[in-house]
This record gives sequence, C-alpha cells and structure tokens, in this order.
Amino acid sequence: MAALVLFGGGGDLAMRMLLPSLYFLEHDGLLPEGLKIIGAARSEETPEEYVAKVRQSVEAKARADDAWSEEAWARMRARLDYLAVDATSAESLKPLKDKVGPGACTSFLAVSPSLYARIVTAMRAAGLAEADDRVVLEKPVGRDLESFREIDDAVADAFSEQQVFRIDHYLGKETVQNLIALRFGNTIFEPLWNALSIDHVQITVGETVGVGDRWPYYDEYGALRDMLQNHMLQLLCLVAMEPPSDLDPDSVRNEKVKVLRSLRPIRLEEVERDTVRGQYTAGEVGGKPVKGYDQERGQPSDTETFVAIRADIDNWRWAGVPFFMRTGKRLPEKRTEIVIQFKALPHSIFDRDERGAVQPNRLIIALQPEEDISLTVMNKRPGLDQRMQLQPIKMSLSWGQQDQSARPPRRRIAYERLLLDALNGDSTLFVRRDEAEQAWKWVDGVSDAWAGAGFTPHGYVAGTWGPQSADLLMSRTGRSWNVGGG
Ligand code: BG6
Repeated sequence: MAALVLFGGGGDLAMRMLLPSLYFLEHDGLLPEGLKIIGAARSEETPEEYVAKVRQSVEAKARADDAWSEEAWARMRARLDYLAVDATSAESLKPLKDKVGPGACTSFLAVSPSLYARIVTAMRAAGLAEADDRVVLEKPVGRDLESFREIDDAVADAFSEQQVFRIDHYLGKETVQNLIALRFGNTIFEPLWNALSIDHVQITVGETVGVGDRWPYYDEYGALRDMLQNHMLQLLCLVAMEPPSDLDPDSVRNEKVKVLRSLRPIRLEEVERDTVRGQYTAGEVGGKPVKGYDQERGQPSDTETFVAIRADIDNWRWAGVPFFMRTGKRLPEKRTEIVIQFKALPHSIFDRDERGAVQPNRLIIALQPEEDISLTVMNKRPGLDQRMQLQPIKMSLSWGQQDQSARPPRRRIAYERLLLDALNGDSTLFVRRDEAEQAWKWVDGVSDAWAGAGFTPHGYVAGTWGPQSADLLMSRTGRSWNVGGG
C-alpha cells in the first residue's frame, strides 16, 4: 500500500491547502485505492486529535464550496494517521517508516526550507528514500543560487532527479495549463506568437493581502524571491517557450529552460531604468484602513513588497519584445493576468479620429479572480453613419459564456492537480533542477544589481498599483499597464 506523508502536517500549508485538496480528490474518487495519508509534525498529539483538527479545516473549506459529504470524509478519515516526529532525526523517523510499511512513499515537505537538507538526510537513513519513493518540495528552495544548490545537493544525495517534485503551485492552476492548450491546440495563435506580430507581454500578479504575520519569512525573501523567481518566471516561460515535441515532462521542461537561459541579465546600469522596488505604506484596501509594512514588521526594513521588471528574451522569436512583470502585496485588486499585446496596424484605412481609432488586438489570459481568456478585436459600430466607425469588442472564453453543462462544478485548488500528479509520478508540472537554477541565476543578477546600486524600495500607499516608477517603466517605452476589467 502506498503512503503520502505530510511533514509539517499540522501547519498552515497542510491545513489550508493540502488536506482540503486531498479531501476534494477523495470526494471525486480520484485518490489511489489504499493510499494512507500520514501527518508528521513536532506537536505531541494523538491521531484522534489530529484528525479532529483536519476535519475542522477540511469541512469549513468543503462547505464553502458546497462539496461536504460525510461519506467522502469517512473514506478520507480511514486513510488518516498521525505521528509526532523530529523530522531531522533518522531515529525519530524509524517509527514513521514502520507506519508507512512496504509500499512506495511520497513525502511532502510542508516545512521551512531551511530544514529540507537535514530532513532528506534523515529520511534516507530511515529508509524513506528508496527507489520507489518520492519527495515533494514546496518553494522557495533556497534564497539564491548558492543556497538552492546546497539544499538541492543534499536532496540529490538521497533522491534521483526523477524522484524529486519541486512545486510551483501556479503550474497547477487550470488557466496556466490552458495556456499550453491555447498555444499548441490551435492553429490561429502560433503563427502570430512572435516578434513580428506581438508588441509586448505583460504579466501582473496583484494581491490585496499584506504580509501580516508572515513577515519573519517574507522579510528574508521579498517579492522578487517570493513571487518573481518562481510563479512569474514560470508564467513567462509558458508564454515564451517554443512548441515542445510532446507533453513529456522533459520535453516541456527543456523548452522552459531555454527561455530562462535566454533572459538578458539586468546590469547595474539598467536597474534604475528596468526595475522597480516598492514597499507599501499605510493606506486603504477595499475600503478598510491597513498598516504599512514597516508597522507590521515593527521596524524599518529594506524588503520589497512590490517588484516590476522589464525582461528581454534574447532569441529569434522574441527579439525586441519586452516582457513586463509586476507583482505586489496590498494592491487595489487580487488580479493575475497575462496580456499579449499585438502590434498596431501597419496602416489604417479607417478614420483616425477619437471614436474610430483602431486599437491593436489584445489577448488577455486572466487567472484570477475569474478564469477567462479574451481577445479584443475591432468591429464595425452598428449604424448608418456615413463614415464607418469601429469599436473594440471582446471575444471571451469565460465559462459564463459557454455551454453550462461543460462548466466544472467548482474551481479546483491548484494543489489538487499537483498532488495527484506527484502521486502518479508525473513531473510535467513540476520544476526541474536546471530550471530552478537558471531562474535563481537571473534573479541573483537582479538582486546583486540592486545591492550594487544601493537601490532601496520606494514607498507606495497601500491600495495603489505600486510606486509611480512602475508606470514610468512602461510609459517610457510608450506603453501602459492594462487597466482592470479590460
Ligand atoms: C505564494 C507566496 O507562493 O503565493 C505568497 O508565498 C502569495 O506570498 C501566494 O500570496 C499567491 O498565490 P495565489 O494562488 O493566491 O495567487
């Protein structure tokens, strides 16, 4: 019988995301038969106490989604077990190995990455890193290339690369996978998907939440390492990569690595022009007053809670096409989107007055708050005007406009897909070592340039779209960020 061990099984990630995801998979009959789920954490509690905590968290989430079923819970309950362990000690992991039994074991490390190296070493000594076993690592692995390599070397001593599943939960989001379907399942986009037709690409990941109690972690990482090194560069890779030969894990990841290798390093003399660092000050979000980051932190800090960067990909397909990325906490909206901005017409036969102006096509791939893919195209304004008037209209692939019977019953948590894939050994949606290394390399270049230039974050009032320099980053090139809803 196979087992899934959740190290940090009582922590925030496990309770908020992993266990609810497992419940939903159970609910839909997708968990492998006989799979045991074992929580492992420091806290001295009985399996019954643990199960009661899990139920509380899972039930609240399932009820909110109208998906609570006592029967599904009973099935999940039967799989659940708990063991108090010191995961860094092989001795302490031996009883866990006994609980796991002879089947393959997938271990999810939902603990501080600073413990990864010691945990995998102890796992190996305790027999939890056998040939059929797997390990799932939550980001961030390291805080720069060097620390990533240190941790990953320890992981590689215990597990082969095929056994390692580095999670980036953005890859589990439905629309992110849909990007692959959109690009490579249609003939109409790919011929235009290059520097001849595309003017620029924008990637925005806006959050309304602040850092709050997470500052001990966040202060060490900042937006560059927390969001851009992983989620945003992954999105950039999926937009920019060449068509893979098939959907095999290595085919897709080979293409992503090539993109990362083609990212032009940001040099000291370009940081002021091509990057923006911000930190929120007290303000208002959603009509409520919120504290500034310094106040949450309790003292001044140089950590950025907002970053915007212009990235250039030095290859044939993207020569001259800038990719603008921005992400931040305490922005006005929770909005994640990729905007593909096509070029303007080479010549317009229409009137160029204000009303009739032809806007270039824009493809917006929205991940949050709603999943939607929309294409803005120009259309004749209906009527008998003597002079033809044009207007932009949006062609949308949102579920609201589709056959309702095809609509998924609820929006899945990204971890559902990823947990299932890890259990099935499919690593297509996980990050390979060389990918993570390349991403760190580029990001280290940015942070070194920041340090070299003494480039500290500019304040921005909570509830705004970051420092003014973020707008300048675009307007300097004659472009502007997409305004929400369009
Ligand atoms: C996590 C970051 O990886 O992603 C958080 O550590 C961030 O800081 C979160 O809030 C955002 O994820 P999502 O799925 O809500 O966009």
